[in-house]
Order: sequence, then C-alpha cells, then structure tokens
Amino acid sequence: MMDIEALRATLRTLVGEAHVLTDGDLTAYEQDWRKRERGRALAVVRPGTTEEVAAVVKACGAAGVSLVPQGGNTGMVVGSIPDASGTQVLLSLQRLNRIRAIDAANLTVTVEAGCVLQTLQEACEKDGFLFPLSLAAEGSCTIGGNLATNAGGTQVVRYGNTRELCLGLEVVTAQGEVWSGLTGLRKDNTGYDLRHLFIGSEGTLGVITAATLRMYPLPAAQLTAFAAVPSLDAAVQLLGLAHQHLNAGLTGFEVMGDFALGLVRKHFPQQNVPFGGMSPYCVVLENSDHESESHAREQFERLLEAALEQGCVLDAVVAENIAQARALWHIRESIPLAQAQEGLNIKHDISIAVSRIPAFVTEVDALLEQHFPGVRLVNYGHLGDGNLHYNVQAPDGADAEAFLRDQEGPINTLVYEVVDRFNGSISAEHGIGSLKREKLAHHKSPVALNAMRAIKGALDPKNLMNPGRVLSIE
Ligand code: FAD
Ligand code: MLT
Ligand code: ZN
Repeated sequence: MMDIEALRATLRTLVGEAHVLTDGDLTAYEQDWRKRERGRALAVVRPGTTEEVAAVVKACGAAGVSLVPQGGNTGMVVGSIPDASGTQVLLSLQRLNRIRAIDAANLTVTVEAGCVLQTLQEACEKDGFLFPLSLAAEGSCTIGGNLATNAGGTQVVRYGNTRELCLGLEVVTAQGEVWSGLTGLRKDNTGYDLRHLFIGSEGTLGVITAATLRMYPLPAAQLTAFAAVPSLDAAVQLLGLAHQHLNAGLTGFEVMGDFALGLVRKHFPQQNVPFGGMSPYCVVLENSDHESESHAREQFERLLEAALEQGCVLDAVVAENIAQARALWHIRESIPLAQAQEGLNIKHDISIAVSRIPAFVTEVDALLEQHFPGVRLVNYGHLGDGNLHYNVQAPDGADAEAFLRDQEGPINTLVYEVVDRFNGSISAEHGIGSLKREKLAHHKSPVALNAMRAIKGALDPKNLMNPGRVLSIE
C-alpha cells in the first residue's frame, strides 16, 4: 500500500515546499480546457529544472505512482489532467520555461518545455527570426505540450507540424534518466530516431524537458486576405490557385463555414466579420513575402483576380495593415472560443486528402441531418492541410450535456465510419488522450496498435507515464 504522505514529503524535499500543491483551488490543473472532465491529483508538482523532473519521476517510480505531464492544459482530448482516483501526480512543466540559447547561424533555438509558445515567438522575433508554429492557444500552451501533441495550427501548409520544426529533444525517461538529444543537427542517420517517438506521444513515453527547434528568417511582408467563396469545392479550387500564384509564400489557408462565423458574430459582436451570410464558406489566406510588401500585394491581386474570374471567389478584402490582418486572423481564431461559449460540443478533428473534402462534407452533412435532425454543424479548419474541425453542436435549445451523453457515441460512429471510407484520420492534430482512446482501437490497424503497445512496454514497462491515454494496456 502506497504511503501518500511519505511520497508528498519526498516530493517537497525534491522541488521545494512551495512547488508541491495538495490543497486549495487546483481547478487550473485538474479541469480540462473543454470542461469535459475533472480529475483529482495526489499532488501537483512543479519542478524547475530537468534534474528535478528526473528526481520526481524516480521518486514516483519507486512508490509505484503514475505521472501526468502537463504544460498549458489547453489540450482538446482530456490527456493532460489526472484521473479521478486521487492517486496520480500531476507534473506541471510550467516553471521549466527558459530559452536556453538562440543559434543564429544554425537557425535554431533551444528552449525548455514549459516555455509558452507566444513567449518563444516573441523572443525569436526580437532577434530577427520567425518561429512559425501558431495557434489560438499560443498565449498559454507550452512548447512541451506542442511537441507532445505534435500540434499543427495555422502555418502547417508552409512550415509543417511541430514535428517538422524539431531538430532535437531532451527527455526524462520513465526510469528517471535524462536523454540529452539537443543536437540541432539537420542530418543524423545513426539508427532509430528517438525524437520522433517522443513527439506526439502525449506524455505516455517520457517527459520532454527541452527542445532544439528550427527558426526561419522573418519575411519582409505578411499579407492577409479574407474571401467569401460559393462552396467548399470553390475553396479547394482557390487553394490550388493560391499554391500556383504564391508558391512557398502561401503560409496560411483556413476555411470557415458560415454557421461557425455566425457563432463569432453572436458571442463576440465587437468583431467585424465580413460578408455576413453572403456565402456558405469564407477563407482566410496569408501570403508571406521575402521581397517587399508591394510585391506581396501584386501577387495577391493577381491571385484574387484569377479567382474572381473563375468564380471561386465571390468577394474578398485584403488587410491594409498589420492591425487589420490581426483582426482577420482573430476572427478565425475566435471560432473555438465562440463554440465553447455556445456550450458543450462534439469535436471531430479529421484529416482527409484535400481533393476529397467537399465530397466528404456533402455526405456527412446529409447523414447527420437525416439521423440527428436539428444538430448544428460547426465546420472550419486548416483546409490547406486537409484538416477539418467538423464539429457538432446540440440542436438549438437542447440540453447540451444530455445531448452529448446520449448522442456523442452514435454521432462519432457515423462520422468516423465515413472518415475510414475516405481513408482519413480521426485525429489530425489534437491527439488521442482519453477521449478518443476507444475509437483509436477501432480505427488503427492491429499491426500498428501492436507495434505501439510494444514500444510503450519497452520504454515504460510499469505503465507509469500518463497511463490510460492513447492506448489501453491490459
Ligand atoms: P497540455 O494540454 O498541458 O498537454 C497536452 C498533452 O501533452 C497531454 O497528454 C500531456 O500529458 C502532454 N504533455 C504536455 N507537456 C508535456 C511534456 N513536457 N512532456 C511530455 N508530455 C507532455 N492544437 C493544434 O494542434 N492546432 C490548433 O490549431 C489548436 N488550436 C487550439 C486553440 C485553442 C483555443 C485551444 C484551447 C487549443 C488548441 N489546440 C490546437 C490544442 C492545444 O493547444 C495543443 O494540443 C497544444 O499543443 C497543447 O499544449 P499544452 O502545453 O497546453 O499541453
Ligand atoms: C483550431 O484550429 O482552432 C483548433 O484546433 C481548436 C479547435 O478545433 O477547437
Ligand atoms: Zn486546429
């Protein structure tokens, strides 16, 4: 039988009294961002160095106590909070937040896991560089969480997911050893690439404590346009034109259904959302140019002229300045917040080949309307990456909690069955956590699942790292 008080006392000696929280209001650590679940921690432990993380992992291992790593707790799939048993340690990385070094010649930055994404973006910009990972939670999510979930965001079409931005990692293993892999090398074929095992592993294989990440030169200009398009097919056609006209300058291409934009109008009326009700979809797109603003503007004009001529754009505005560009992006980024204000909802974070997205949406819209009359479809996402947030809100006036309890299962089954037929993925960027664990078991090939279990068993044989997330281990 584990001695809880003895473990708490050990943890206090390891990280300091002030950094082991056991009472008071722990909501920020124990409640997930979407308010889907509330857990209870044996203790919230906040180490300040990699060595302290290693010591905490060792102490928990010796006591047979499992750990849940947590960064900004902005995850979407209930993976970053403890379960309800009160027997897990919540390991918050927030104090491990230093930017260790910027290597300008190597175009890399080495940063600790608890550094907030926006802090890193700003530090790189101050030195004349771009760190391109960008998402609406950037003011509170951390680099460790971004790596552990392989976060996507709004710049993937040009710069890739967090995985593509990472050249090296420092990790505390499930045994409490430190693996120092912060090489910053762009080429290294010395056997298995362990970095890629830990990226996207959602805290189930080890604790990421630091990373060496790619930076890019800051573009000379970043222009944003907001366009009304007559259909999803037209949005895909516009994407093709944008690739042709802007090439590597195309750094963002997001689609937003009119109902999703309607939620922003409703909950954030101070925002000026263009083209109200004029079209079923709008697109926000970004052109980053390394020559000049006038060059970027000319390119954008030529693209929009061609799109208007071909009928895939009905109307468009191009931001005149940075403030306007931010306001247009802010509309897109406000959709998940507006959706949360509207009430509990069912999220489907799916990816499908871009070319097949219009057919997928036509089919699933019709099936949902047929089988679940009145449901409200909140459709938006990273069309440039083939990633839709195809979300479902309870019918107007319905009790959202009861709706989720009764209908989430059947709705997920319907949507994911079509995702499978379209050869897609049931999690494009948010991960699996505990919310999609059962679904993963149905939608991933048995060969892949067995390989994943073998890796988990080899790296964390006692199943102490975020157990019950991603995989169920019998
Ligand atoms: P947490 O939520 O704390 O943790 C997430 C997972 O990572 C958990 O399983 C946790 O155990 C694990 N973890 C955290 N830190 C570590 C570590 N140091 N070592 C090992 N494991 C760790 N996601 C996208 O991909 N794209 C988006 O566009 C996007 N937009 C969002 C917008 C909003 C408004 C919100 C609230 C969320 C959004 N997300 C998005 C989801 C979320 O922000 C990301 O998943 C983010 O990467 C999580 O970072 P975090 O620090 O909050 O991690
Ligand atoms: C987004 O793209 O806005 C995020 O992934 C968040 C969400 O889907 O709610
Ligand atoms: Zn997203």
